[in-house]
Amino acid sequence: MKRAFITGITGQDGGYLAELLLEKGYEIYALYRRNSNQRFDRIKHLLDKIHLIAGDMTDQSSLIDAIEVSKPDEVYNLAAQSFVAVSWKEPVFTAEVNALGVTRLLEAIKMKKPDAKFYQASTSELFGLVQETPQKETTSFHPRSPYSVAKLYGYWITVNYRESYNMFACNGILFNHESPKRGIEFVTRKITKAVAEIYRGEREFVSLGNLDAKRDWGYAGDYVKAMYLMLQQEKPDDFVIASGETHSVREFVEKAFKVVDIEIEWKGQGINEIGIDKKSGKTIVKINPQFFRPADVELLLGDPSKAKRELGWEPEVSFDQLVEMMVKNDLKNEGAESG
Ligand code: NAP
Ligand code: GDD
Repeated sequence: MKRAFITGITGQDGGYLAELLLEKGYEIYALYRRNSNQRFDRIKHLLDKIHLIAGDMTDQSSLIDAIEVSKPDEVYNLAAQSFVAVSWKEPVFTAEVNALGVTRLLEAIKMKKPDAKFYQASTSELFGLVQETPQKETTSFHPRSPYSVAKLYGYWITVNYRESYNMFACNGILFNHESPKRGIEFVTRKITKAVAEIYRGEREFVSLGNLDAKRDWGYAGDYVKAMYLMLQQEKPDDFVIASGETHSVREFVEKAFKVVDIEIEWKGQGINEIGIDKKSGKTIVKINPQFFRPADVELLLGDPSKAKRELGWEPEVSFDQLVEMMVKNDLKNEGAESG
């Protein structure tokens, strides 16, 4: 039986990846942070099937112990301070986890299980101020936030351990992927949760920031399959994982309201723009400068052709299906914080 060690198990991707690896017969060990208000919402159905190990990406000895105890064949490093907006408020902590945390984990593997295969959760945020479109594995990076600068370090230290120590270490350069289990601070889930609440008459409007930002959005359940496939190859390599389509936040808002039969009309401009429900004339979207970032990533569009060619990976859930899935989940999840 193969053994996997996953960090970030309590996050969106951690639950989907654990489900996939359990289906494939893996024994799973996973790192969790001890919190005063422990939240295992996303993995409560898996708790009796996996081994949880307390630890933290900022604590070297906990990672060494975790690798020693789990003796993994495969390590998936999903743990991160993953909310870009907060990385300007907590730049040093973000770097501790997203940059140095990767080195700590690689060191633990090098010391205790050097033949383990390693997956690093890299990101399309590395492309930032994009140098070409669509973005592929050879596109130059230009990170635009403390989050992505820290992730750039994580990317290169992964390549460096591959080249220095011949470790099987891979970067998945994943574009945005969402699901009903997405954290409520990210724009997609913030929108779908608000649509459900507005539809039920529990709130009047949602406040958003940059509606013109464009993202290449896919479904998290599809994307964890690519993580697994990268570690099943003969040679370690880095892969872009994306849908190959891009949509603006504005389009996401329109599609999400459409699921509950609300059509939006936009009026005004800039921070004075509002979205109106065509039927009732009520304002359901407002702009709040609080949600703009000091520097934003305006356009992401990935080219997943290498993943298709070499991994045989393709996304299955379309943009429209994703939006509908998330809104419908929030409609039935009355008052729930996460999926
Ligand atoms: P998420 O829902 O925010 O989950 C992050 C996970 O990291 C949580 O389990 C969190 O634990 C854990 N974590 C944070 N700081 C930690 C620390 N100091 N020590 C140990 N664990 C820590 O993120 P996600 O969407 O699942 O994303 C998974 C990974 O992929 C992240 O590295 C993210 O940066 C990267 N990524 C995500 C996307 C995307 O669109 N989702 C795209 C590209 C890359 P707590 O529950 O204790 O906070
Ligand atoms: N969160 C948020 N809230 N974003 C908003 C809002 C709002 O009210 N209004 C507009 N946006 C815009 C942001 O400015 C950004 O351009 C876009 O919506 C997407 O924001 P997020 O959903 O927060 O995601 P992200 O693209 O910054 O980062 C996510 O994807 C990365 C991969 O590209 C995260 O999952 C990162 O961890 C991941 O690396």
